[in-house]
Amino acid sequence: PPYSVGYLIGSLATASINRKLAGALVALAPPELEMREIPIGNLPLYSYDYDADYPQVALDFKAAIASVDAVLFVTPEYNRSIPGALKNAIDWASRPWGDNTFTHKPSAVIGGSIGAIGTAVAQQHLRSVLSFCNSPQMNAPEAYLQITPGLIAEDGSITNDGTTQFLTEWMHDFYEFITRVLTVVPRS
Ligand code: FNR
Repeated sequence: PPYSVGYLIGSLATASINRKLAGALVALAPPELEMREIPIGNLPLYSYDYDADYPQVALDFKAAIASVDAVLFVTPEYNRSIPGALKNAIDWASRPWGDNTFTHKPSAVIGGSIGAIGTAVAQQHLRSVLSFCNSPQMNAPEAYLQITPGLIAEDGSITNDGTTQFLTEWMHDFYEFITRVLTVVPRS
């Protein structure tokens, strides 16, 4: 496929509804996107004490982000923000100073909650973080999902036709966004 997309799942829970959502998005992705998970759960807590000598797991994490054309964040909302594990992962990738792996890396944000708020507040926080990390973000369409029991079946398929269509179009829009960002000739 033309573009590789690394997706980060903000939840570490084994039964994560956002992990199910990510699986559904992989299934609905256009053929132009090659989707691969970039795990965040094995990273230690970041401190700049590590900057002089990053542990291998963090070097591997940074390399995984560097190796993909774009990044997709699939995250829950915890206490009206993003989970600490996801913020920790972003902090690792953004450092050491001068080596921010998100620079010019296109990204998109999506998430689901059990309630009707649909991770809207967490997504606003994440957008602020990604702005500071200089990642061009897909501004629209936004995607706030209430994941009710049964919406995503055990095999990862979505049981609601409207949601399936919306997410299919959203992934196609993300592909077009990546294309626009990566075909702009960089200023020298
Ligand atoms: C939640 N939940 C939640 N939901 C929401 O819409 N807004 C919120 O601020 C919070 N806060 C929150 C904090 C913590 C610590 C937990 C564990 C949960 C509920 C949340 O939507 C629900 O647990 C989802 O299942 C979380 O997604 P994952 O982790 O299953 O992908």
